[in-house]
Amino acid sequence: MCGIVGAVGLNNPTEYVQKGLKMLDYRGYDSAGLAYFDNGIKIIKDVGSVEHLMSIVPSNIISNLMIGHTRWATHGAPDIRNTHPHISFNKHICLVHNGVIENYKEIKDFLFEEGYRFYGETDSEVVANLLEYYYLQNKSITESVKKVMSMIVGSYAIVGFTDDNKESLFVFKNASPLVIGIGDGFNLVASDASPLVKYTNRFIELDDFDQAIIEHHDINVFDKDGNRVKRKIITKDIELISHDLKGYPHYMLKEIEEIVPIIHRITSTYYQDNKFLFDKQLIKDLNESDHIIFVACGTSYHASLVGGRYFENYGKSASRFIASEWAFHPTFPGQKPFVILISQSGETADLIHCLDTIKKHNLNNLIITNTGGSTLDRNCRYSLLLHAGIEVSVASTKAYVAQVTLLALLAASLQNDASVIDDLKHCVTVVEDIQKNYKPMIQKVASELKDKTNIFYLGRSYDYFLSLEASLKLKEISYIHSEAIPGGELKHGPIALIEEGLPVIVFITDPSTAPSMRGNIEEVKSRGAKVYVISTAELAQQGDTIIVKDYAPYLSSVAISTIAFYLAYYVSLAKGLNVDKPRNLAKSVTVE
Ligand code: F6R
Repeated sequence: MCGIVGAVGLNNPTEYVQKGLKMLDYRGYDSAGLAYFDNGIKIIKDVGSVEHLMSIVPSNIISNLMIGHTRWATHGAPDIRNTHPHISFNKHICLVHNGVIENYKEIKDFLFEEGYRFYGETDSEVVANLLEYYYLQNKSITESVKKVMSMIVGSYAIVGFTDDNKESLFVFKNASPLVIGIGDGFNLVASDASPLVKYTNRFIELDDFDQAIIEHHDINVFDKDGNRVKRKIITKDIELISHDLKGYPHYMLKEIEEIVPIIHRITSTYYQDNKFLFDKQLIKDLNESDHIIFVACGTSYHASLVGGRYFENYGKSASRFIASEWAFHPTFPGQKPFVILISQSGETADLIHCLDTIKKHNLNNLIITNTGGSTLDRNCRYSLLLHAGIEVSVASTKAYVAQVTLLALLAASLQNDASVIDDLKHCVTVVEDIQKNYKPMIQKVASELKDKTNIFYLGRSYDYFLSLEASLKLKEISYIHSEAIPGGELKHGPIALIEEGLPVIVFITDPSTAPSMRGNIEEVKSRGAKVYVISTAELAQQGDTIIVKDYAPYLSSVAISTIAFYLAYYVSLAKGLNVDKPRNLAKSVTVE
């Protein structure tokens, strides 16, 4: 987690660093800080948000070099001592770090023996000191970085500078994202490209174990053996990485309302002129495999539950695993399994851990991600991009719909079944209808739910998968405890929790499960629950709360997840909470 930025040669780096950190604070917002060069290393940092940092940074800093950091606490409390940037014991090295150094304790012990003392508890401060330890011996920052990288184990993107060179930044990375932006007379770095696009459209993405020395007019990249290497200069579609709120009050609302164009974009990217456009070899490999293993976390895991069912519908056996579970106890069903990883960010540490296992066992694999150039995009055998545009709100919405849409297309392409295209087209009309006509209705439900402490979601089959996502969304941003229960499981335990007035939100969109769901409604109603039914026209009954147009039931996560997202959004709003940045969470979970 954590967002990092750096600038060298820029006239007003303070503006870049502050605005850049603001764009990256989806990666963490416990504390923030920056450092610059003014007759030595100067640091300004504090606990709290980037906005708070902005309020304490003077406007008249004169420095062409600056680094900044917004933190999601891992090692050590979110207090000032652990806030980045960190300075080494003898004050020669200053750096910011995103990632986790697994063996920092033994390095700390070693440095302690060498006389080093530490002001905080972070693994990052240990790296600053280790770097200084070698820098004082060999006076070469590239040699010192090389040595440090050979010793530290874990994930890191590090940007820093020394107290004797105000002309250059050093950066090095492994398994954490870092993009260099190439300017005219200046150069920039950041955790993702969004802060850079205002300044340049030319980027370099470093490989793992690369280091670079970045100066006003020059960028020198070295591989892990210290050889100077050239990394490809790439350009990016600025619209897809723009942080412009476009008049919306929150990113979450904006992102929910981008769902329709995203469904169109994914469909036209992967299906044109009556043909699926997936890599032929990928489809061949998927068809030849005898089992699909899905691994993912959180919302992406919920998408994998739906996707697994899609593959089963086309005759493939499939298992779905939470990545952090599979990573430690991997199972390999079938003789020729194929692993599909799903990750909006492409940086989730639990999935990167899975990828190590996948590679160790030489399993064929595909990442479905929204982030081109991310660690998983670069390191998986196949990659399919969601093209959903950057998702800033911590609670994922459009990326979930994009994942399910892409999985529906991919599964259908195994048997060249184009019916999915019409089904998706029709879904779009359902989503449009919800966006246009249903918000007042959903707001009314939200106002009834906002003071509740427990809320249940019920569904079966696809509607259960949707319930899981609806429940996660609600708890994430409203802090209301919520559970999703498969209708059939109710009487096997959870019904004991039903009491007078408990809100139960029920999805009924599938003819095959609707009668059983109606039975479940009677069971909870008779025990005092306040039931809100979301149904399709064909299955609706009098008294249902929200009735939407019919659609192919297998697409409920595409067609009506928008209702669940709006509901969570309006509950959070009604409670006066920070919709886009809920407490304790970060957008990109780069720690296990
Ligand atoms: C919830 C949410 C998270 C992520 C999870 C995995 O709204 O966004 O549950 O889905 O942290 O992240 P990715 O998809 O980036 O691997």
